[in-house]
Amino acid sequence: MPSVHVERHLFVVFGATGDLAGRMLLPSLREVASQLPRRPPTLRVLGCGRRPLTDREFQDEVIAWWKKDRVTPLAPAIAWARANLAYQSLGDEGPDDFRKLGARMAEIEKENRLPGNRIFYLALPSQAFPKTIRGIGEAGLHRSAGWTRLVVEKPFGTNLASAHELNEIVHTYFDERRVYRIDHYLGKETVQNLLVFRLANMFFESVWSRECIDFVEITVAEQLGVEQRGDYYDRAGALRDMVQNHLTQLLTLTGMDEPANLEADEVRNEKVKVLRSVEPIRPEDVVRGQYRAGRIGGRRVPAYRDEAGVARRSETETFVALRLRVNSWRWQGVPFFLRTGKCLPKKRTEIVIHFRSPPVWFFGEAIPRNIAANRLTIVLQPDEGFELAFEIKNPGLGVELSTHRLHFLYSEAFGPLPEAYHTLLTDVMRGDQTLFVRADEVEDSWRMYEPILRHPPRIRPYAAGSWGPKEAEELVRSVGYEWSSL
Ligand code: BG6
Repeated sequence: MPSVHVERHLFVVFGATGDLAGRMLLPSLREVASQLPRRPPTLRVLGCGRRPLTDREFQDEVIAWWKKDRVTPLAPAIAWARANLAYQSLGDEGPDDFRKLGARMAEIEKENRLPGNRIFYLALPSQAFPKTIRGIGEAGLHRSAGWTRLVVEKPFGTNLASAHELNEIVHTYFDERRVYRIDHYLGKETVQNLLVFRLANMFFESVWSRECIDFVEITVAEQLGVEQRGDYYDRAGALRDMVQNHLTQLLTLTGMDEPANLEADEVRNEKVKVLRSVEPIRPEDVVRGQYRAGRIGGRRVPAYRDEAGVARRSETETFVALRLRVNSWRWQGVPFFLRTGKCLPKKRTEIVIHFRSPPVWFFGEAIPRNIAANRLTIVLQPDEGFELAFEIKNPGLGVELSTHRLHFLYSEAFGPLPEAYHTLLTDVMRGDQTLFVRADEVEDSWRMYEPILRHPPRIRPYAAGSWGPKEAEELVRSVGYEWSSL
């Protein structure tokens, strides 16, 4: 990683004893910290939670997570936790609790001679965001001698109205330039590369429009079911959990025009333009599915409705397929098909750009025309890389064509890729908002899906371990296309 400049600060984690903090945030924080100057320490971490714990007890809990998750090497991780983690109980999050938190923050800042720079990270269930943000604001913790930043995990709202309301609460205390809304897909190397891939290669960008592209597919397939999160998931569903955020980010990065430069707001302006160009979604363009019992790789999977935390008659979708019409000069008439689902046969995230067939066909009826449609597959995970399918003449007499592929694999070129959280945390510390979702962007993406949220089409069943309901096939077939096989 190139060396980065990060100003010294206090990193406050709300929800510090939860799953997200223990498994993802704190390990990444430790890794980021290990690459920053340690003398004097660049950052100190203050965890907050409901329970009354001493610093030592909190450190013990964090270390227990790491042992369970087999963090290696463990010894330096333990040493870091002992030296850097403090804890403050927030009890019921009353005004007094936040005053005590302020006093503890000031004490740590003084002891460590920190200049008053503060990051507040909400690793909390989304229902808790408003109360915590108000608590921080009413206690004046967002005002200090240095800068203050607020980091909010997804989901940011559950529809347009709630996202708007949450933005208003946030903006009461934090100017938008200090707000970092996380979508961990934006931290993935392969997702960031989408822009570079397009803008650094004349070859691709020159064909990136309706002139040459027939249709676009975006798939985020997951093999996992809802695991231990039935209770959350049953209130969310695939549209809120995956489509409004992760798939929509892939849509905007694929569909956006080139920004004036790579400044955060220039990039985000172009992404927002894509969202605003999407035509209102029609009911016939949406398929919602829910998995029934089935088998995945020899493992028996119960029906969604039999998962812990899920209502027995739940109508929540675990699969969504969509057709979007982007009404812009670049994309008019080019369908974007999006799909995502749980309990599909394998994990795979990819974007497939299908190019048009040649306008004139010289090779006779025996060779189908569509064999010659070039296809660019951008694989975002696993096996990160891309593949370009093209036609060649088979050697020998006569003209016979076959499809061959050029491959690029990140793992071959670079070895393992950095973790998304690592990148995102470093960017928050550096004050770079490019990979974070802006207020208008989050509202525009909710606005796009309002028609489905208001009038959800009926649920179609699919067997766990299949590629989703048959209606998802018909959605693309009815307009003359096929999903690529994964
Ligand atoms: C999360 C969703 O945001 O993304 C999960 O809440 C989903 O339901 C996960 O499994 C997928 O992330 P990734 O990085 O494994 O594709």
